Amino acid sequence: MDDHATYPALSDLKARAYKRIPHFVWEYLDSGTGSEATLRRNRGKLDAVLFKPSILHGEFTPDLSTDLLGAQYPLPFGIAPVGMSGLIWPDAEKLLARAARQLQVPYCLSTVATQTPEDVAPHLPENAWFQMYPPRDPEIRADMMGRARNAGFHTLILTVDVPVASRRERQTRGGLTQPPKLTPRLAIQAALRPAWLNGIRRTGMPRMKMMDGYAETAKLDKQTRSTTAHVGYMLRTSPDWDYLKTIRDEWDGPLIVKGVTQADDAARLQDEGVDALWVSNHAGRQFDAATATIECLPHVRAATSLPVIFDSGIETGLDILRAVALGADFVMLGRPWHYALGALGADGPAHLADILKKDMESNMGQLGAKSLKDLASRLL
Ligand SMILES: Cc1cc2nc3c(=O)[nH]c(=O)nc-3n(C[C@H](O)[C@H](O)[C@H](O)COP(=O)(O)O)c2cc1C
Repeated sequence: MDDHATYPALSDLKARAYKRIPHFVWEYLDSGTGSEATLRRNRGKLDAVLFKPSILHGEFTPDLSTDLLGAQYPLPFGIAPVGMSGLIWPDAEKLLARAARQLQVPYCLSTVATQTPEDVAPHLPENAWFQMYPPRDPEIRADMMGRARNAGFHTLILTVDVPVASRRERQTRGGLTQPPKLTPRLAIQAALRPAWLNGIRRTGMPRMKMMDGYAETAKLDKQTRSTTAHVGYMLRTSPDWDYLKTIRDEWDGPLIVKGVTQADDAARLQDEGVDALWVSNHAGRQFDAATATIECLPHVRAATSLPVIFDSGIETGLDILRAVALGADFVMLGRPWHYALGALGADGPAHLADILKKDMESNMGQLGAKSLKDLASRLL
């Protein structure tokens, strides 16, 4: 089967994934918060970024390579951290790490992944990033950072846009609990998705494995250990500026702050000594009155000389060009990799990367843009 003929766009992968992922898991992956206005705004404002086509440039193959924090990448996009990835598709963390290695792009593991840094270590690309929701307990924090570093994660991502849990009503209605439990209703949904269910039979019911390991250190009683509330308690998801300073002191590699949308924060973060900023609104999952990230991007870009990473709503190669033209040094995607896994299993991520690459090349041809640096001048 020619995947390009059958699944030429992310929307094709998404449609197939919908038929292969159980409903309650789909609602976790695919939903935003509130009425999902931010989710829609991210898309709408990306569509509103237009370029001026440019003619008579002769034949050329666009150069998609870039560098970020001293590393060279053949493509300007990578894999964003997604919690409970292995619930969305069995073995997702390992499959994505391997895909990143093959593509030579960064892979970012979430604190609340279903695999530990050690589990994923043998599969990591050269540039592996560890995303941290910072623990309250300094002992756990030091251990977590040490484990990540020893497993081969050289870049630390501190996510700051989850100061409190968001409501995500669709997800709640879907019925996913933490840890996931197959109630009769969810078991029926799972039974209708045999490829997913067979994989989960093999891997076991996914859990937040790294966090589970810390339940004892946090001295929680057995009943509260595995609940969302306990994970929420152990992880101080609302760090402040002092906490940031502590992490800056404790982590001697590159530190990136994820979830930046405002220019004044960008300037202050630079003063605090972070190495790069990550513009994100968590794909519209946190706050339903947020500006689209593509609108925040130029303001953040103007406020800092640090590298800027961008995500939330990227669906095509053209979207990547839009973000780069408006000042992003690198672009990350979260959900799309999981739609690709849901549609095509282990072959999905490479197929998605190929779609994105071909779409970038095609559109750069329309713009006469020979490299990513040419894009800003082609904005309308
Ligand atoms: C199901 C799901 C789980 C996520 N979990 C995390 C997480 O654990 N840590 C984090 O920093 N961001 C998390 N994110 C946000 C992503 O890293 C990323 O910012 C976002 O998905 C990018 O938007 P996109 O999905 O439109 O590409 C999650 C996103 C989704 C969809």
